[in-house]
Amino acid sequence: MRILLTPILVFMLPFMAAAQQTLPHINGPRLYGARPGKEFIYTIPASGERPMSFQVKRLPKGVTVDAGSGVISGSIKKAGSYKVELVAVNKHGKSAKAFTLVIGDKLALTPPMGWSSWYSFGRSVTLDKVIRSAEIIREKGLQQYGWSVIEIDDPWTNQPPNNDTTWIKLKQKTGTAYSYYEGPDNLPGRVGATRDANGTLIPNQYFKEIKKFPALMHKMGFKAGIYSSPGPLTCGGVAGSYGHELTDAKFFADNGFDYLKYDWCSYGSLAKDESKAELIKPYRLMSDALRAQKRDVIHALCQYGMGNVWEWGNESGGQLWRTEGDITDNWKAVYSAIKKLADKAAYVKPGNWNDPDILQIGVVGAQSEGEAKRNHLTPDEQRTHFSMWCMLDAPLLIGANMELLDDFTLQLITNEEVIAVNQDALGKAAGLKTVLPNKVEVWSKPLEDGSIAVGLLNPTDQEQATEFSFSTVAGSSAFHVRDLWQKKDLGLFENKVSASIPSHGIILWKLVKK
Ligand code: GLA
Repeated sequence: MRILLTPILVFMLPFMAAAQQTLPHINGPRLYGARPGKEFIYTIPASGERPMSFQVKRLPKGVTVDAGSGVISGSIKKAGSYKVELVAVNKHGKSAKAFTLVIGDKLALTPPMGWSSWYSFGRSVTLDKVIRSAEIIREKGLQQYGWSVIEIDDPWTNQPPNNDTTWIKLKQKTGTAYSYYEGPDNLPGRVGATRDANGTLIPNQYFKEIKKFPALMHKMGFKAGIYSSPGPLTCGGVAGSYGHELTDAKFFADNGFDYLKYDWCSYGSLAKDESKAELIKPYRLMSDALRAQKRDVIHALCQYGMGNVWEWGNESGGQLWRTEGDITDNWKAVYSAIKKLADKAAYVKPGNWNDPDILQIGVVGAQSEGEAKRNHLTPDEQRTHFSMWCMLDAPLLIGANMELLDDFTLQLITNEEVIAVNQDALGKAAGLKTVLPNKVEVWSKPLEDGSIAVGLLNPTDQEQATEFSFSTVAGSSAFHVRDLWQKKDLGLFENKVSASIPSHGIILWKLVKK
């Protein structure tokens, strides 16, 4: 991307890039939300040379910080805003950051960030594969940038055998629920009893040690994520939570899970219609069940946007909601998801996030299901994809297969300045301000410090030379411009900046008023 106009003033980088890699730098948001008296875990994301030690000044009673890992955990009884200071120290120096623990009703004050098993392993997921992925995420240092949730997606429970009497009855009652999945025995290795005598979910043979998973994740500094359905069967055709919501919420929280993706699937055969009352019912039920537990569990609604979920997702008690069906790794799907969110930005706020689905970055074919190693998005398209998920305040769930992680993808997910746009405490999603005559779209997102993140997105098939006038996004006429992907100050500009944007590419700038 070339900047065509000469800036009035070029700022020198305040420090050398090499020094940046060695000194500690605390990344991530400047606040974290938890409920009074509920257990939670938050790992201080800090880059810089290891070993590094951590300290939190004025940490309230009930929570502790592990000096070696920066993991903050525990629970705080009394509601309130606790202003603390995060400190990270290594042999080169120290970094400190003002941070607020907001103990109140809201969780996920900034969009959740993590990795989901779905696009790596599909229905061949096993606990070992998930743990291995978490290990790689850790080894690659991704936690230092805020990547925290490790979500086990479908299918970790069992598929009921065809002669199971409970299920035969349920089939009679619900009509299609039992035959929801793709024909009987579509998962031959995962057929068996679905619940024990206490009604507790039985994991399938690949997830025998599921109960140990959250503790292991916590020890590694991660949040543990899990998947279920309000219907009797998940989309993959294994047991969901229908009729056992409280038992399952307790099972998840007691074992230490921090995040639940709750996928509509076979509930469709139970809902009377698509009225808001029917759509909200199963989600409110699960939100209430989760809220009754001793641990904070983020509730991620997955019902593909039915009934304009963004209008009432908050009312259901969830923190994020899928806005549409499953995304795929092609430009048409990604670009259409971006465009569809343009008019939904108003529904986004801290604790309420529109979720256009898992990031299609890196290698996303579920090879274990016989899919090709693939990503049909070009590097520019993947950068646009990631940038726009950040601009739109979308939850950031990595779809990439971690064992096949390449340098490009690693760079994409370790740019703290781009991630900071997503984790900004204001929680205002970007809106589409205007479309320029050459079709380049101008997106802007206000940030808490008064600056503006701007995305110039080129949806055309040619590179576009573009003149961007500040007046399209702000009243002021002079701005310092920083390129977030290049991590470079471009200078002070009057009225406008010009740049060249590759086909399907993006420029991401931060504008700071003069
Ligand atoms: C649905 C969801 C996906 C994934 C699968 C699992 O399609 O939208 O994200 O969870 O189910 O079967």
